[in-house]
Amino acid sequence: MSEINWAALQSAAKHASEQAYAPYSKFPVGVAVLAASGKIYTGCNVENASYGGTVCAERNAIAAAVVAGERQFNALVVYTPQQQLTPPCGICRQVIAEFFSPDAPIASCNHLQQQQSWTLAQLLPAAFTPTYLANSTKVGV
Ligand code: THU
Repeated sequence: MSEINWAALQSAAKHASEQAYAPYSKFPVGVAVLAASGKIYTGCNVENASYGGTVCAERNAIAAAVVAGERQFNALVVYTPQQQLTPPCGICRQVIAEFFSPDAPIASCNHLQQQQSWTLAQLLPAAFTPTYLANSTKVGV
């Protein structure tokens, strides 16, 4: 894997956060993902009056990449203008696990230039991944 351009990912995530639609939480989030192709895709959180219809920035970034034909990713960066660095929520960790390897770096940064990084395996140990379905016994068919 070539060297990861963290500055480019952080900048893209920050720009994405500026498009966040977060009128209810007032908690804008931007995410940039680095696809195996080398391209960067972004997403922001898009909230909904039903609350439950809200989609996180992570899932929107991954969806934007998937519709462009990407299936593998090498890094993800979250940007939030918060004092505390924001890690991906539980649902997003599961979606990240669909496309990222366990050792892929998942980073968070903020407006104070702080950053923290985890591997996906640290965020979601013993993940349920597509391999379980691929190796499954097809019961009842
Ligand atoms: N949110 C994200 O977009 N990503 C995260 O990792 C944490 C939470 C959004 C969902 C909601 O719009 C707002 O932040 C507050 O939960």
